Amino acid sequence: MVRNCREVKVREVRFLGAWDEPSDFVELTLDNPGWDGYRPGQFAMLRPKHWGLELSWGRPFSISRSDADSVTFFFQVVGRGTARLARLAPGDEVIIWGPLGNGFSVADQTPTLLLAGGMGIAPFRGYIEKHPTPEFLRIVFAHRASIDSYPYQLMKDMVRAESIHETSPDDLPMIIERIENEVRGAQGGIVLACGPLPFLKTIQQAARLHQIRAELSLERTMACGVGACLGCVCKDGHDKHVQVCARGPVFKADDVHI
Ligand SMILES: Cc1cc2nc3c(=O)[nH]c(=O)nc-3n(C[C@H](O)[C@H](O)[C@H](O)COP(=O)(O)OP(=O)(O)OC[C@H]3O[C@@H](n4cnc5c(N)ncnc54)[C@H](O)[C@@H]3O)c2cc1C
Ligand code: FES
Repeated sequence: MVRNCREVKVREVRFLGAWDEPSDFVELTLDNPGWDGYRPGQFAMLRPKHWGLELSWGRPFSISRSDADSVTFFFQVVGRGTARLARLAPGDEVIIWGPLGNGFSVADQTPTLLLAGGMGIAPFRGYIEKHPTPEFLRIVFAHRASIDSYPYQLMKDMVRAESIHETSPDDLPMIIERIENEVRGAQGGIVLACGPLPFLKTIQQAARLHQIRAELSLERTMACGVGACLGCVCKDGHDKHVQVCARGPVFKADDVHI
């Protein structure tokens, strides 16, 4: 057991998306085990108490937001663990450990471009809510599912926001060009990114080319979440193996191989 491991109760399970379609996009709200001081970009490992030996490891999720009473995660059902998490009900008990990892930088009064791809939008809700000068933030969100499947509108109400809908693989060159241009235009500010690997690679290359300060949040399959199992290693800028859970998940764009 790690130090910040707690048993908490489920408060709400909410499916996002069009009202007349089944949804795989879930907002899971739990009792807050005292994590309001978390840094956006940090994550937690979740393991419902009733999971038997069949699913021995917890699953990692970005902390999407928290307040004094509750902590919320946003996930998509992709496999056995997330399918079971989506079936939780209020009052069910979940073991959570965290907040884990480092989190994104917060630069007061500095233009900050948030680039989110798909589920990579999750940590930015809390980031926007906690930022001391949200008027300096802008989010660009690339997504495949319907926009109602994501907590995007809430963010759009708080900061300047634009979305790019990928409706077919033919849209990809346009999206890559748009993201590269967004990074290039971020001179003098910072870029924070979370999303799938090809999305992060595009941002990393553009940031290197135009010498933009950028941070990337990486996803790896994780088992322990605390640096012990070595299941999540990647190479840093000095070609050293590092655990994404302990050294990341957020890395400077010029300090990681992805
Ligand atoms: C630091 C961190 C933060 C994350 N935050 C979120 C989040 O906020 N919302 C969200 O929806 N997901 C997030 N993920 C991904 C999430 O952990 C996986 O989707 C989840 O563990 C899959 O569990 P499963 O049992 O349903 O899938 P499994 O049955 O274990 O696998 C189903 C499929 O998902 C792939 N997969 C499993 N784990 C990962 C992973 N970590 N990254 C990429 N692919 C994976 C598998 O290779 C397989 O193809 C995060 C991952 C990390 C490491
Ligand atoms: S998940 Fe075990 S070392 Fe990172």
